[in-house]
Amino acid sequence: MADFLQFPKGFVWGAATAAYQVEGAANEDGRGPSIWDTFAHTPGRTLNGDTGDVACDHYHLYVQDVALMKELGLNAYRFSISWPRVLPTGRGVVNMAGLDFYDRLVDAVLVAGIEPYVTLYHWDLPQALQDQGGWLKRETCQAFADYAQVVAARLGDRVHHWITHNEPLVVAQHGYWTGFHPPTMQDPAAAAQVAHHLLLAHGLAMPVLRAAGDRQTQVGITLNLHPVYPASDDPADLAVARRDEFIYLKWFLDPLFRGAYPLDEMQAQSMDYPAVETGDLELIAQPIDFLGVNYYTRMIARGSAGASEEDAQAEYTTMGWEVFPDGLRVLLERVQRDYAPRAIYITENGAAFEDTLREDGTVEDERRRSYLQQHFCAAHAALQAGVPLLGYFVWSLFDNFEWTFGYLQRFGLIYTDYPTQQRYIKKSGYFYRDVIAQNGVPRD
Ligand code: FCB
Repeated sequence: MADFLQFPKGFVWGAATAAYQVEGAANEDGRGPSIWDTFAHTPGRTLNGDTGDVACDHYHLYVQDVALMKELGLNAYRFSISWPRVLPTGRGVVNMAGLDFYDRLVDAVLVAGIEPYVTLYHWDLPQALQDQGGWLKRETCQAFADYAQVVAARLGDRVHHWITHNEPLVVAQHGYWTGFHPPTMQDPAAAAQVAHHLLLAHGLAMPVLRAAGDRQTQVGITLNLHPVYPASDDPADLAVARRDEFIYLKWFLDPLFRGAYPLDEMQAQSMDYPAVETGDLELIAQPIDFLGVNYYTRMIARGSAGASEEDAQAEYTTMGWEVFPDGLRVLLERVQRDYAPRAIYITENGAAFEDTLREDGTVEDERRRSYLQQHFCAAHAALQAGVPLLGYFVWSLFDNFEWTFGYLQRFGLIYTDYPTQQRYIKKSGYFYRDVIAQNGVPRD
């Protein structure tokens, strides 16, 4: 077996961030509040009361951040637009200063030879829209399409890759079902309706994004997907596996690729069926140019009592997520077999581990390096099996605000020293630089 795995010519190597997690400048230049500002400022919601007010100050430091991307040799940078920075109350009057920031950022990355991949919605709904009912309201879908229009009219001449939503499952599941994220509702029927509205918003934005671009324009959506492994063939485990297959695969993939919700599965799981109007599913199932896949770990389905402890043989990240690289190959092959997207990008993959910044400015994050190396190999195996994988984005470019976990969990290729806002490329970052330079991965 070859000890070096070569990737296809033109394979895209990138890194990803999201607006609320990195930008900071929460109250500058006319930005309005998002639901994440409100949530993070509510006592007890995030670890240590951390907020995205300052984050990595990417809003002010983007020029040096782009220089770091160039030093790593990135081909692409995936970032998201803050909807309330562009439209402070979600619709209506455009905040030109907000749009100007993204204009400058896009130009800076292009000058560095880096392709921008732009996500429109990475969870930061304008608070004003939430106050009017948020994603439970059908009107929010049109507001999203109008927002897409504003952004694409300004950037569409230079941005050729658009991602409508990031992980709509997380918005529905944690915003409306578990209540871990804003707006902290715990109502499965609401979650089903919100999921539908997120998909509808995607469907309404697709033609808008295409119209504002040119023939190069590619539009997709990013889903967090997990391959599901029943813990055993105990019927209780198999029942949980069936539920997990619905939640982590079919719920969003079926309407997007088959134009229908998996009714039998929804009934089996006692999921409420959302209110769907005529034509919604056709909009949702318009062909996408690529599917974005975020993969971090597999799902082990356990229904049998007392069997949920961690497996002593397995390795876990500080998020408590099992390191399971082969799950990426299995997932990609499954998605390809069942849904056959035209193209796939891994839009996020990465790991949180404890990092130590040494006196000499180095960070020896061997476990993250190894995590990435193993997952690159799994992606290569999927390519060999015929999966149309075009690129790979590591989460994340640098350590940032990890939602409810605040600044504790570090996912970066680059270490962020928050008190000084100094950045330090970690060992994993230098490893990634070599992978990109060689367009290939050593097997060990
Ligand atoms: C994903 C999110 C991303 C980041 C990673 C760790 O679910 O899309 O913003 O928080 O998890």
